[in-house]
Amino acid sequence: MGKFLIEKSLNIKGDVYIEGAKNSCLPILAGAILTNGKTTINKVPFLSDINIMCSLLEEIGIKIDKDEKNKTLNIDTKNIFNKELSYSLVNKIRASFLLAGALLARFGKVSIQMPGGCSIGVRPIDLHLKGFKALGADIKKEHGIIEIEAKRLVGTEIYLDFPSVGATENIILASVLAKGETIISNCATEPEIVDLIEFLNKIGAKIEGGGTETIKIKGVDTLNSCNHTIIPDRIEAGTFLTLGAATKGELNILNVNCEHLKAVISKLKEINVDIEEKDNSIKVFGKNIFKNIDIKTMPYPGFPTDMQPQFMSLMTLANGTSIINETIFENRFMHAAELGLMGADIKIEGSSAIINGVKKITGSKVKATDLRAGAALIIAGLCAEGQTEISDIYHIERGYYKIEEKLKNIGANIKRINY
Ligand code: UD1
Repeated sequence: MGKFLIEKSLNIKGDVYIEGAKNSCLPILAGAILTNGKTTINKVPFLSDINIMCSLLEEIGIKIDKDEKNKTLNIDTKNIFNKELSYSLVNKIRASFLLAGALLARFGKVSIQMPGGCSIGVRPIDLHLKGFKALGADIKKEHGIIEIEAKRLVGTEIYLDFPSVGATENIILASVLAKGETIISNCATEPEIVDLIEFLNKIGAKIEGGGTETIKIKGVDTLNSCNHTIIPDRIEAGTFLTLGAATKGELNILNVNCEHLKAVISKLKEINVDIEEKDNSIKVFGKNIFKNIDIKTMPYPGFPTDMQPQFMSLMTLANGTSIINETIFENRFMHAAELGLMGADIKIEGSSAIINGVKKITGSKVKATDLRAGAALIIAGLCAEGQTEISDIYHIERGYYKIEEKLKNIGANIKRINY
């Protein structure tokens, strides 16, 4: 167990390198189940979630050589076999359920428990299962285990009631080896889905329409291997942009695709923060006073729910009242109570948070209730008078590679203590 001790550190300055996207790497690792031969994945973020996904793949005979120094995974599926995955691992990450689509495609059968992940809402998997069923799979649920079976999946038209990221990915994974064509409409358009499709097409899949609301998958009979580089993590980049703005700092953020950050950049510009976009990097210059704004979280290209907590910390110190409307997850305001302990003035009314900007916040003992909530507390801690102690930082380390080192390099006063 670890804690972060943070002292006020304004005017944060320097370069920050952004890792490959965790939420891209996880589905691509699930997709590795479909490969034949040796596959290399580059710009891998060596986070605990990625290590758990690798352990799950190793359980089914996949050989993985990890090269953390070069941020590379070498994957060999020569000895792959099918079995029920360990609950202790499946339960740790929500993305473990993406293995269902890939195993179903490769073996025609999968036995898996309900997945775990951040506690930010109910997070059902009905849309994933609806997709598998439409493709012709039989689904049984007994004693918490889901058994999905189909001799060979058959392509069909699937309409998603909500553009779920995970359901879109799982249905794509399931249908690449199906007989005939699958058309998914009202699907998610997140950049991580485009990256997964690019990976699958490299191994021989025939998928069109990535990044649009209709994806067409022509089933193929066999797949092979590839060399793939993960896209930059837009949420890590967005977190550092917000951190630079809140600390009135000057950050040069490297390995960034600005196209993926349009909503975040536009909201930062709205509050008077200066942003300089380049081809592969972005600079943020914080200002002494920033304006209040309203935010509504939406599926991509709308404002990402994964940036909502960090913006709540920023809005706590804005001039005036801001409203955040969370439309993706029903229980994603747990950080508001923690920020309240630091002196923030936030009221929650249903799916809205009303944030009255305050002149100062003060260091306190707070808890990272989930991954992005933890990032929000780091931002608040850097702006607060005195010392902030953040516990349960394992949540933060699920999504931010070497966060303590990266923050120290840009002048933050942060210390990790183990207990
Ligand atoms: C992914 C991201 C997560 C991000 C989220 C929304 C990964 C590993 N995680 O999560 O960081 O916050 O997208 O951008 O990529 N839903 C259903 N039924 C389903 C599936 C989802 O009702 O079968 C609902 C969820 O409860 C939630 C909403 O749809 O309210 C969005 O969930 P979804 O897009 O599926 O998120 P994840 O893929 O879990």
